[in-house]
Amino acid sequence: MNRATTGYLNKDRIRIHDPADFEGMRASGRLAAQSLDMIADYVKPGVTTGELDKRIQDFIEGAGAISATIGYRGYQHASCISINHVVCHGIPGDKVLKDGDILNIDVTCILDGWFGDTSRMYVAGKLSRKAERLVEITHQSLMLGIDQVKPGNTFGDIGAAIQRFAEAKRMGVVRDFCGHGLGQVFHSEPNVLHYGRWGAGPVLEPGMFFTIEPMINLGRPSTKVLSDGWTAVTKDRSLSAQFEHSIGVTEQGCEIFTLSPAGKFYPTW
Ligand code: MF3
Ligand code: CO
Ligand code: CO
Repeated sequence: MNRATTGYLNKDRIRIHDPADFEGMRASGRLAAQSLDMIADYVKPGVTTGELDKRIQDFIEGAGAISATIGYRGYQHASCISINHVVCHGIPGDKVLKDGDILNIDVTCILDGWFGDTSRMYVAGKLSRKAERLVEITHQSLMLGIDQVKPGNTFGDIGAAIQRFAEAKRMGVVRDFCGHGLGQVFHSEPNVLHYGRWGAGPVLEPGMFFTIEPMINLGRPSTKVLSDGWTAVTKDRSLSAQFEHSIGVTEQGCEIFTLSPAGKFYPTW
């Protein structure tokens, strides 16, 4: 069962967690990552996104956890599956994957009250050269953002590192969605922007838990949400990619809670 809320809020109203809390995030992050390892073998042309989602839900519930997204603001699925020009929050359903589709699968589970949130890119069938380049740059963007995470650096440093790299590659960095604090809640302070200025924003302190989850487009950064109220797409219909890790700031740097136990975060194919 959930413990009482841990830690305290710092001056920027960001929760500071203690060493026992890292253990909770480690277990939850690992389970979320394992669900994404599990699904890799099932991503292929002909499968529906609804089938993939069902497997993920069964896996999470089979492990004694629950999905954080089922029932979240009316969302009814255990994953978001975002194909090609869908930026994020794609709704699983009857859509059939076809050869060459790239897709992000984003899972958040709750284990013993702790939220583990992670996403990766997959391909159905054969990966095109331009999609491969986008996916590789997006993964590198996340890892460069994570490289900035250590006490004394700022949230602006994370965004600036991602923006500098992705824009140098002529990619569009999505502004309309961001990473977030998490822990015993799904979304909390601060907003973790994937663009920004060096040295700007709150200072990183040991015990902060948050996600970094850059969305990078082959075209312009602008997005719009479809009439279903969830699905976000690129306005210019260019391809979009995303990777997400949940991490905690340590004295030395950071700990990634959602590393793939199978070593399949990138590439998944
Ligand atoms: N997992 C997403 C994130 O990275 C949030 C999904 S909310 C949902 O923050 F309702 F769309 F599932
Ligand atoms: Co997230
Ligand atoms: Co997520």
